Amino acid sequence: MLQITEIPAEGYERVCRGVDTASGLHAIIAVHSTALGPALGGMRLWPYESRAQALTDVLRLSRSMTYKAACSGLDLGGGKSVILGDTSFKSTALFEAMGDFVDSFGGSYITAEDVNTKVEDMGIVATQTKHVVGLAGKSGNPSPVTAMGTFLGLQATIEDVFGSAELAGKTVAVEGVGAVGSIYAKLIAENGGNVVLADIRGEAAARVADEIGGTVVDPDEIHAIDCDIFAPCALGGSLNDETIPKLKAKIVCGAANNQLLEARHGEELRDRGIKYAPDYVVNAGGLINVYNELVPGGYSEERAFNRVQSIRVNMKSILEMAREEKICTSVAADRFAEARIQEALAGHQP
Ligand SMILES: NC(=O)c1ccc[n+]([C@@H]2O[C@H](COP(=O)([O-])OP(=O)(O)OC[C@H]3O[C@@H](n4cnc5c(N)ncnc54)[C@H](O)[C@@H]3O)[C@@H](O)[C@H]2O)c1
Repeated sequence: MLQITEIPAEGYERVCRGVDTASGLHAIIAVHSTALGPALGGMRLWPYESRAQALTDVLRLSRSMTYKAACSGLDLGGGKSVILGDTSFKSTALFEAMGDFVDSFGGSYITAEDVNTKVEDMGIVATQTKHVVGLAGKSGNPSPVTAMGTFLGLQATIEDVFGSAELAGKTVAVEGVGAVGSIYAKLIAENGGNVVLADIRGEAAARVADEIGGTVVDPDEIHAIDCDIFAPCALGGSLNDETIPKLKAKIVCGAANNQLLEARHGEELRDRGIKYAPDYVVNAGGLINVYNELVPGGYSEERAFNRVQSIRVNMKSILEMAREEKICTSVAADRFAEARIQEALAGHQP
């Protein structure tokens, strides 16, 4: 029997813990905001060291989904769910219980796959709730759209810094050549950029380098490469006190989520004359892709790719705002998103 308890969290619309002893489910769903629409965000399965760590993660992730959707002009709010455990916890009963938990939000939270959960798991969730996207036969793999969006954000940033969006002759250091990083690196190479790659899976980096004509360095060397652009496409926290002083790049633009270890690292980049393309602005392609399942007429790849073009426009507006208001780009992106949320809230007032 699923037990749901509310967790008070200031600044969040609703946060609940769901526990089902029969299936072993222990999960948290956080809805940060539904000001712009239902809160969409993936379902992450992770072996957190503590309940407190899981709560911190789901709160942080759901908030950034609000900002990502708002910045991209989508009628979506921000939410996220985390299941405490590792992949050995996976079972039909676990995802059925999780489906019930998602359903208890009555549509204010819409789920999708995320770290350690897959399309097949969402198929089980869908037996218990209709509030799930990214199912088999629908929007499919988000990585190509995410890579395309990040590339469009890169073009806007290069134009801002170098006066032309031309990539030929520029060197890009890509950290992480997984699902998104490999496609992003390929787009850069196809457009004339020189690519330097690093991945903790050395064989993956070598394979991509072979395919696109790049060179490979060790993961602990990638930040210090003599390059024009540094592209974090691995895990979060890549920009921190240790790595930022090593950067020689003039631009940081990659697909990874939560690239700044702390908010102050956005200022740190600005102070060093490095233009940071905020992660949630340029990596919104995956969200834009899955959002398309919810619009009238259903998913269309063409519509998703067309809509992703807005990332270039948004990135330009944020660079402009940062310049005019003399703030760093990460703060400009937050203000850009907050302005849209405030507008929506004002429109809802009687
Ligand atoms: N897949 C999407 O559509 C999407 C959408 C938005 C954001 N993102 C974010 O983009 C990033 C990459 O996503 P993905 O789907 O490509 O994941 P992935 O797991 O396919 O790729 C990540 C790659 O990074 C490598 N890696 C991990 N730690 C590393 C390190 N310290 N140094 C170098 N390489 C390292 C891994 O070996 C792997 O090849 C993640 O932060 C993800 O949250 C992805």
